[in-house]
Amino acid sequence: MLKLKDRKKVITYGTFDLFHLGHLRILERAKLLGSHLTVGISTDEFNILKGKQCYYPFEHRKRIVRALGCVDEVIPEYDWNQKVSDIINNDIDLFVMGSDWKGKFDHLMDYCSVLYLERTKGVSTTMIKEDLSAINR
Ligand code: CTP
Repeated sequence: MLKLKDRKKVITYGTFDLFHLGHLRILERAKLLGSHLTVGISTDEFNILKGKQCYYPFEHRKRIVRALGCVDEVIPEYDWNQKVSDIINNDIDLFVMGSDWKGKFDHLMDYCSVLYLERTKGVSTTMIKEDLSAINR
């Protein structure tokens, strides 16, 4: 049965380190697609597994994202394989990711709708880190 937009639950995932405009824009756009937005944030342990070094620890990243008006709930992401159970347990209708992930999560279409949104150009956590280290060189 089709759900009305005002009852749709949306989920997205990310690391959200050094929170920037690209992060804000994807969360705002994801929320506009439904009525409730859950954000899965990579834990510090998961980032180590991914070979990603964060500046902010999980608790800081979580508090910053949770403070946004467009975010209703934040959950920890511990590993690659929890998305299906998150979708089922949270009764999710729509899974959203940035276009850098295009096609990577199509298998989730068995459980909910999947949408890739255009990335915001000209900003990323990696870019911020590189720019700051160039300034301080
Ligand atoms: N994102 C976006 N536009 C950007 C940067 C990120 O839409 N300019 C989206 C990503 O596509 C993802 C979410 O924000 O869906 C979280 O991305 P994350 O990996 O935490 O941020 P990045 O800035 O891409 O981090 P990194 O440079 O470490 O990969």
